[in-house]
Amino acid sequence: MWQQRIRRADLHKKIMPAEQAVQFIKAGMTVGMSGFTRAGDSKAIPIALAAKSATQGPLNLTLLTGASLGNNSDGLMAESGVLARRSPFQVDADMRRSINEAKVLFYDQHLSELAEQLRSEPGYPIDVAVIEAVAITEDGHIVPSTSVGNSASFVNQAKQVIIELNTAMPAELEGFHDVYLPKRRPGREPIPLTTVDQRLGSTAIAVDPERIVGIVLTETLDSPSTATPPDVETQAIAKHIVRFLENEVALGRLEKSLLPLQVGIGSIANAVTQGLVESDFEDLTMYSEVLQDSAFHLLESGQLKFASASSITVTAPMMEHFFNHLDQFRDRVVLRPQEISNHPEVVRRLGIIAINAALEFDLYGNVNSTHVSGTKMMNGIGGSGDFARNAHLSIFVTKSLAKGGAISRVVPMVSHVDHCEHDVDILVTEQGLADLRGLAPRERAALVIKHCVHPDYQAELADYFARACARGGHTPHVLEEALLWHQRFEEQGDMRKAELAVN
Ligand code: COA
Repeated sequence: MWQQRIRRADLHKKIMPAEQAVQFIKAGMTVGMSGFTRAGDSKAIPIALAAKSATQGPLNLTLLTGASLGNNSDGLMAESGVLARRSPFQVDADMRRSINEAKVLFYDQHLSELAEQLRSEPGYPIDVAVIEAVAITEDGHIVPSTSVGNSASFVNQAKQVIIELNTAMPAELEGFHDVYLPKRRPGREPIPLTTVDQRLGSTAIAVDPERIVGIVLTETLDSPSTATPPDVETQAIAKHIVRFLENEVALGRLEKSLLPLQVGIGSIANAVTQGLVESDFEDLTMYSEVLQDSAFHLLESGQLKFASASSITVTAPMMEHFFNHLDQFRDRVVLRPQEISNHPEVVRRLGIIAINAALEFDLYGNVNSTHVSGTKMMNGIGGSGDFARNAHLSIFVTKSLAKGGAISRVVPMVSHVDHCEHDVDILVTEQGLADLRGLAPRERAALVIKHCVHPDYQAELADYFARACARGGHTPHVLEEALLWHQRFEEQGDMRKAELAVN
């Protein structure tokens, strides 16, 4: 019953259909929507915006979110002329096409930074915030659903607020959130977080109820996670990481409880976390962005003591399980604003072990997470950079091949740099693990060739490196050949030399 969820009675009169609520969103506006890796996103307003755009012409909005939206909202809005600009992250095939055709201009930004930039703007840089909630408190404050993301910052910085009250999500999610935002600079205090399970703020997003202009009722669940179950290669990657961490424990560098883990999105990351279920580590903690199914498996096995994140992005059965057992997780899970879950200050203080996925990496440890063939946007940098630079251990994982072997994901030089060699400690493929800590570029390259590259590409990469070394330099390259593999892929659809290419 929505009446019980809107505990401030004078707000009941603000309930309206989505078609009416979008009257507040006018062409050219900047809109901040809730939603982080498909969790807690606005469900009804994107559809109503697409309909409005179809009848009234392109809206050309700037859309800011926490991270990616579910329910094909990004694709729908990109295709229907709703959007001119988008930030900071997306994973939708249609949105991706619009970005790569330059129909939507995408600002790819570290996920921790958007809130900071908004805070430094004068006045209200957001015209309308659209926030999914499971309840509205007696004070008119907003209780978010399965993510916090940038919602609190959007509400703070918005002239007007539209709430989507989702009655399909349990109202008992109230209490899982910890809403704390840093103050404006100068004179900022340190973020007082020294353990992953600390709570710093409130369980709801404060807002002056006068700024709430509409409340839309919805009952659509989040889009389920698309992470595929572990396969032979992702399991091998997980095993390499577990063995490496076991060795760090044996050497006395880490305790058996390790340090707080951050694990990125996607199938490999999910498999790596799953791999920890079969390990001997105990009393683990997680300080991450997203909790996937595997995090809940670890919580249930008892190996994971506590998990802090900004969103819960799980499969449909896991979401049902979570909703049915909220009390089992209530004291062991907290959802924070992404500015806090990803904050470099906190990441450095806690000593995170960060595990993120790469599209490709090179001989010297530079990582490309975002650009296919150096030019086409995939998803965005997400939070990987927030963690990689400041982590105790910055680990990047990838399968050694893509597209049936036509692409080597270990290349002489990456075609785009998201994480430079200085931010990368460990590289892992199903072939093995290269520990690059404390090594000079030439030493790093030797390990990458030995442990990470697929055998189909190993000889050619070793030959490239030998010829580069013969030319000299601290970081040797044969510059005119550095992107030859990418060029071959463009020209012949295969990075291998023509005589070795299969198709
Ligand atoms: N060149 C061209 N295509 C490539 C490629 C390369 N070097 N590497 C992978 N691909 C293709 C794959 O073939 C696959 O295509 P398909 O879907 O048509 O089969 C697709 O890209 C995705 O590859 P996959 O290995 O399945 O990706 P993933 O799920 O492990 O995701 C990233 C890898 C890098 C795209 C993903 O982790 C990401 O977006 N990272 C940036 C954000 C981030 O790290 N956030 C972390 C904090 S949550």
